[in-house]
Amino acid sequence: MASLYLSTCRAPVNIAVIKYWGKEDERLIIPTNDSLSLTLSIDDLCATTTIAASPDFSKDRLWLNGKEESTSTERIQNCLRAIREAAASRSSSPNPEWKLKIISENNFPTAAGLASSAAGYACLVASLKNLYGLEGNYSSVARKGSGSACRSMFGGFVRWHKGIQPDGEDSIAVQVAPSSFWPEIRVIICVVNDVKKDTGSTSGMQRSVETSELLKYRIAEVVPRRIEFMAKAIAEKDFDTFARITMQDSNQFHAICQDTYPPIRYMNQTSWDIVSMVHKYNSKHGSNKLAYTFDAGPNAFLFCLEENVPEIVEVLRTQFPSDSTDFIRGMYSDDIARKTNLSS
Ligand code: DP6
Repeated sequence: MASLYLSTCRAPVNIAVIKYWGKEDERLIIPTNDSLSLTLSIDDLCATTTIAASPDFSKDRLWLNGKEESTSTERIQNCLRAIREAAASRSSSPNPEWKLKIISENNFPTAAGLASSAAGYACLVASLKNLYGLEGNYSSVARKGSGSACRSMFGGFVRWHKGIQPDGEDSIAVQVAPSSFWPEIRVIICVVNDVKKDTGSTSGMQRSVETSELLKYRIAEVVPRRIEFMAKAIAEKDFDTFARITMQDSNQFHAICQDTYPPIRYMNQTSWDIVSMVHKYNSKHGSNKLAYTFDAGPNAFLFCLEENVPEIVEVLRTQFPSDSTDFIRGMYSDDIARKTNLSS
């Protein structure tokens, strides 16, 4: 009788407050600096991946948002190989030599600076890990799919340690605090534009490593200091400092994009209007009650405390009535949701 093993997982996107931008090793995806992020709620922006394993399948196949994609890319191969090797060394079921059918869906636009690859690869690895019943921290495998994906393997506040080993095995993500530690934090996502970006993160950061002087300074001087201050602000639930460092780090990342040659531009005029609005709002309140951060795209991720959400949404709706959409998001406290069905 034919055997079929199934595993389904969901993984949310994460938003970095200390950014990852630059690789020391392109192939292994070892970053030039540590980074720190918040993982969003599982009900918000997330990927859902179902994997089936059967001795009847003749080759590995992958469908992304309903369209068949190749499984032979280096990144997918690296993830599959690492998990299969781990499963083989533990004599896991199903047999790691069986071929797989992988179906993955995002509930948000792919590659528009909304961290789709982070959720996608975290979900792939979590679902594989679940399929073979593996235990432990597999964030270094998700990292081989997309650097920032390693942080989506955990909920709450997550730090990606760049590590010191040349093989990248200690370049892993670790939860700093669950979201239940600071449950009042909210993120509001302003979707300014959901069109696929011109310069992807991978090629953009490669160009920055090759050409930006400012990036060298950031790696050597800024991040090691800043990440400790950020960890302290989180430990003390000091929102004013958390917000200031978040905004400063986003600004430095985009300054590096401009310092890259030829320069890269991710933020547009609406993004900058949001920056001005946030600073005006904070100066009116006499402290940082709102923080912005922008990734490799024009969309704004705003952080605030729950009590201020109604007022902030009101300000956003008044100032950006037509060209942005607001979503209110909670946070995510547990590990990635999982479900395994087993039939034979
Ligand atoms: C700006 O993880 O997408 O979002 O490792 O090449 O796949 P690759 O890059 P990716 O880069 C994300 C960059 C960022 C900042 C961050 O998330 O830390």
